[in-house]
This record gives sequence, structure tokens and C-alpha cells, in this order.
Amino acid sequence: MPLVDLLGRPLRSLRVSVTDRCNLRCQYCMPEAEYAWLPREDLLSFEEIRSLVGVFASCGVDKVRLTGGEPLLRRDLHELVRLLAVDRRITDLALTTNGVLLSAQAERLRAAGLMRVTVSLDTLRPDRFTALTRLTTHARVLEGIDAAARLFPSLKLDCVVMRGVNDDELVPLVEYARERHGEVRFIEYMDVAGATHWAVDTVVSRAEILQRLAEHYGALEPIDATTWAPADRFRLPDGTTVGVIASTTTPFCSTCDRARLTADGIWLTCLYATHGLDLRGPLRAGETAGQHAARVEEAWRARSDRGAELRAAERERGIYIPASALKGDVHLEMHTRGG
Ligand code: GTP
Ligand code: 5AD
Ligand code: SF4
Repeated sequence: MPLVDLLGRPLRSLRVSVTDRCNLRCQYCMPEAEYAWLPREDLLSFEEIRSLVGVFASCGVDKVRLTGGEPLLRRDLHELVRLLAVDRRITDLALTTNGVLLSAQAERLRAAGLMRVTVSLDTLRPDRFTALTRLTTHARVLEGIDAAARLFPSLKLDCVVMRGVNDDELVPLVEYARERHGEVRFIEYMDVAGATHWAVDTVVSRAEILQRLAEHYGALEPIDATTWAPADRFRLPDGTTVGVIASTTTPFCSTCDRARLTADGIWLTCLYATHGLDLRGPLRAGETAGQHAARVEEAWRARSDRGAELRAAERERGIYIPASALKGDVHLEMHTRGG
């Protein structure tokens, strides 16, 4: 029998966070002054990640995405890519990065077998980048994007749209992505744990994003792809494609085939989950791959998560988890569970 959860969703995609550290402080993800971090000794080694990814592959996962924090802060990440790329069951191996360290690493990541790269790019303006991230490394991000555009067959640029922050840059970002043969995806600002400054009036909805693009470009044509991906894709009159990820106003929980592994081996079946399953403990205690797979299968069969839908149904939508509570459990943070 195929492995599906209580809502009939298969387990196909795994997002592996390789570190909870980040070299930016994006306002929508890490707005606080200070953070607690995972203890270093708890971080999975590359060998441990490889063996857990193997377990997930035996349960049906064929898409793996490396995330963080910022994954390129993990030393020798290309060595992990090399270990994962040889597993024939993994047909899609991708990376989500903020791009700061990408130009230096793109070549060896590609050579190691990385197939696709997504870079976060919220603004084309250096001053805004600094206001948004507290760092001055915008030029390095752009260099990273250029390197990725040169070396990888597919490039996506993720932009979290925030009202009054970067919502006047939709058209320039579409143009910028087009010039690099990439696809920009506009993401609604989500009230995930960690977004402690979130407020409903700062969200620019999918409807508004589409309307603004249509005002500039003319009618957008939906690309009818029945996929499990979070982005709805559209074609502009000139053929350029763009994506919109509407997790806040139109959640895609009903087709969510993804799960997340934190850098210390906690398995989360929802972005909004407040608890996960510890896989590091059993792994280090010598449990076999078969025992792991049984544990994963049992948990997936019992899964009924639809965190974003439940949040969307709340009438008075405020902060999901206050900063004070996040301090007590770093696993709740978006930068720990992977964006
Ligand atoms: P591909 O479609 O395979 O390219 O990847 P992806 O779109 O899943 O990857 P990416 O890391 O670029 O995800 C884009 C954004 O979608 C994330 O940064 C989040 O903002 C959002 N997102 C990703 N996964 C989830 C999820 O499980 N739930 C919700 N609600 N939003 C998600
Ligand atoms: N809302 C939407 N997307 C977010 N990300 C992190 N925090 C949020 C949030 N509050 C995603 C973005 C970013 C990636 C690293 O994580 O897509 O580019
Ligand atoms: Fe999947 Fe949870 Fe995100 Fe919904 S909120 S799409 S169930 S991870």
C-alpha cells in the first residue's frame, strides 16, 4: 500500500536543514536582537544525514532540498551534496540559500551533483537590503545569483513581499530574473514562528500581487500544472513566467507532500508544527534503517497537519508564537526548521 497520511497525502519531499545559523537577519524571519542556537554536538554529521535521507528515500521521498538557517555556512556542504547525489532514488536535489556565500561555492556544488538552486532576493536596492537584513552584503548576493545563473540549468528567486518594505519592486524583480533566465516567485509574508513582527496589514496577498503585475504587463495566464509544488505559476504576455506562493491567504496544505528535518535530527511534518519526532536519538543509539523507516511510516500515516489552513481560519490573526516562547524552544523557529 502506498504511504499516505490521514488526508491522503504522500511523503515525497524532504527539506533538510543543515544548520540553524544564518549570516543575515531578515526582518520576516529573524527580527529579534538575540537568538539561542542548537548545541553543536547535536548537529547531525553528513554521514548521519545521508543515512536518514536514505531512510526517507525508502519511504517514498525523491525530492530533497537543503536549507538552513543559511546552508552555505555549513563547512564543506558540497561533500554532503556528493553523498546525496549518488542515491539514484533522489531525482531532485536542490538548495535554498540567501546567496551571500554562493559565488564562491557554486562551482563545487554543481560539480558535486547539486541540480537546482533557489536564492532569496527580496530587493534590488542595497540600502533596502541593509534595512531588511541588517547586513551590507547585497552585492555578494547578486554575484551569487550571477554565478548560479551561469552554472545551473534552473534558477529560482524567492521574494517575500511586505507592504511598505519592497512591494514597489515587483516589476523590477521580474525583469531582473528574466535577464538571468530565472523565475521569480513572490511569497506572501507568513506568520510562521519566528516572524515576531508579522501583522496582517503587512501581507500583500496573491490577488494584489497578480493585480499589480497585470497592471504593468497585461493579463497573466495561469499555467495549468497539477503539481504538489507550493507556487502557482503564471505566464506574462511576453512568455516570462512568475510564481506566487500564497501560503497565508490560500494555503496549499491539501497537497502538502513535504516534511522537514532539522539540523539536529528532529523530523517535522508541518511548517507550523510545535512538536517533532526525534530521529537523532534512535540513530545514535544504533537503531537500524528498517526500524527508522517503520517509525517514519507510522508517523506519516498518522499525520493530519494543516497548519497554514488552521492559521488562515483564525479570525483574529496575531503573532503565532511570541518571541518569549521562542527563546525556550529553538526548534520552533523558522530558521531552525528551514524556510
Ligand atoms: P520547488 O518547487 O521544488 O522549487 O521548491 P519549493 O518551492 O518547495 O522551495 P522553496 O524553498 O523555494 O520554498 C519556497 C517558499 O515556500 C518557502 O521559502 C516558504 O516561504 C514557502 N514554503 C515552503 N514550504 C512550505 C510549507 O511546507 N508550508 C508552507 N505553508 N509554506 C512553505
Ligand atoms: N514568510 C514567508 N517566507 C518566509 N521565509 C522565512 N520566513 C518567512 C516568512 N515569515 C522563507 C523565504 C525566504 C526563505 C529563506 O524562507 O522564502 O526566502
Ligand atoms: Fe504543509 Fe503544514 Fe505548510 Fe500546510 S502549513 S503546507 S501542512 S507544512
